[in-house]
Amino acid sequence: MLVAKEHADYAQAFQGEDDPRLDEVSRAVKRFGYQQDALIEVLHIAQHAFGYLDEKLLTYIARQMKLPLGWVYGVASFYNFFSFKPPAAHNCVVCTGTACYVEGAQEILQALEAEFGVKPGQTTADGRFSVTDFRCPGSCGLAPVLVVDGELLGRETAASVIARIHAQLAGEPTPSQETSA
Ligand code: FES
Repeated sequence: MLVAKEHADYAQAFQGEDDPRLDEVSRAVKRFGYQQDALIEVLHIAQHAFGYLDEKLLTYIARQMKLPLGWVYGVASFYNFFSFKPPAAHNCVVCTGTACYVEGAQEILQALEAEFGVKPGQTTADGRFSVTDFRCPGSCGLAPVLVVDGELLGRETAASVIARIHAQLAGEPTPSQETSA
């Protein structure tokens, strides 16, 4: 009963009506049999559904799984693939694996910080652009590898990345879109 009430309270925080994303999280918790060792899977499903993990959502998960909130927060903050802020409208993910590092990933990250004032894990003050990093997705032959707004890019330079992101922010076609037009 208590869980049902919390579900309703939490759903109310989302526009005053039941939120199907919350049902998805709730179903996942049930599917894993309320097992505490399924916490990472549940957090993944929650982040996929909501885009990020805010305190209310973490509290909801903690109560459903009968875990202390501090424990849930600790696990979520240990892994850098969990985010506690709403996703930015535009995002650049830079691979920092060895091959990409050798081929200039660090210079790209430095250029992004100099141009937009954000390091990996940060979002610009206007919420429009964020930078994250990740480990080798296995495309080392294209190093340095990045993903800009979901598009995998290889062999970019710091200058070409900055130009591309300015174009994305301005809503202009990117170089690859111009080529394919
Ligand atoms: S090290 Fe970057 S794709 Fe492999």
